[in-house]
Amino acid sequence: MSAHATFALRATIAPMSSLRVLIPAEKIQARIQEMGAQIAREHPSGPLYLIAILKGACIFLSDLARAIPGTPVRMEFIGISSYGKGKSTWGEVKLTKDLDVSVEGFDVIVVEDIVDSGITLSYLLQVFRQRKPRSLKIATLLDKPERRQRPVKVDYVGFQIPDEFVVGYGLDYAEDYRNLKDVCVLSE
Ligand code: IMP
Ligand code: MG
Repeated sequence: MSAHATFALRATIAPMSSLRVLIPAEKIQARIQEMGAQIAREHPSGPLYLIAILKGACIFLSDLARAIPGTPVRMEFIGISSYGKGKSTWGEVKLTKDLDVSVEGFDVIVVEDIVDSGITLSYLLQVFRQRKPRSLKIATLLDKPERRQRPVKVDYVGFQIPDEFVVGYGLDYAEDYRNLKDVCVLSE
């Protein structure tokens, strides 16, 4: 475990919980460079809208955007509520912050931290299709395919992971751990 993760463990979690590094920071960064290069190859002209789902995808978005050389990239944010404060989904998605601009006629990539049940993204794809983008794709850092309840076609996947609850690199548990550089498994 990195020094950073050890600090967070001492600072914020209950004594019976533990953090184990699943994907170290260096591996995350290397994979994002590959994903960015692929996205740049497939979208040479731009402008390309990267739309991050708040708050978890913000850190991934900021690294991914800088890994897309040459292509003019624009950044947008949307807010949704689905997970509440625990580890299980409510199964219901609500838009809490919409886009600031129209993306009609533009290439759009929705940027997500993790695809779990697929409920969030299947809802958002429906919303975005109504906005008539030229193309609509999904990039996620993490994918837990075993947990899928709704089929979602994910175009760019950083890492497939097993069915474990993870935190760090933007992902939270009750709003904690987002600032860890590694993706860690949180267990009680
Ligand atoms: P879905 O709608 O079930 O696919 O859930 C996607 C959202 O659930 C993600 O954007 C995360 O906010 C949250 N989520 C799912 N799995 C995890 C996890 O292992 N750690 C932290 N958040 C998670
Ligand atoms: Mg999220």
